[in-house]
Amino acid sequence: MTSNRANRQLWNRISGAYQDDHDPRIGAAPRLWGMFSIPDQELNALGDVTSKRVLELGCGAGQWSRTLAGEGALVVGLDLSETQLAAATQAMGATRYPLARGSRSATTMKPTR
Ligand SMILES: C[S@@+](CC[C@H](N)C(=O)[O-])C[C@H]1O[C@@H](n2cnc3c(N)ncnc32)[C@H](O)[C@@H]1O
Repeated sequence: MTSNRANRQLWNRISGAYQDDHDPRIGAAPRLWGMFSIPDQELNALGDVTSKRVLELGCGAGQWSRTLAGEGALVVGLDLSETQLAAATQAMGATRYPLARGSRSATTMKPTR
């Protein structure tokens, strides 16, 4: 089995548990970074994203993509796990953004819609 396939299968399997454990802290308003939930106001990592193009590699359930699209960024979410992308589709609010399935280590990508 390729590492890409094993990686995809892992994320498909743990997607639900990952959302249960982490969803409230990821990309929430105010923006919080990483496992220590450091506020973006402290890091000022992104600033104003209005009209900026954003590619979220490994977007998972799209918490950050959703937040940044809501702030006016032109977002594409990329993930190798169809289960994670299904969670992103389900969680997508009024602000729509495109999702694509693919691996940052693969040469082909497959749009989900
Ligand atoms: C730790 S989660 C992060 C999800 C989300 N971005 C967040 O902030 O919580 C890692 C995500 O990257 C995806 N992923 C892992 N390896 C990848 C690869 N090679 N190409 C694309 N996505 C990948 C997984 O499916 C998973 O959704």
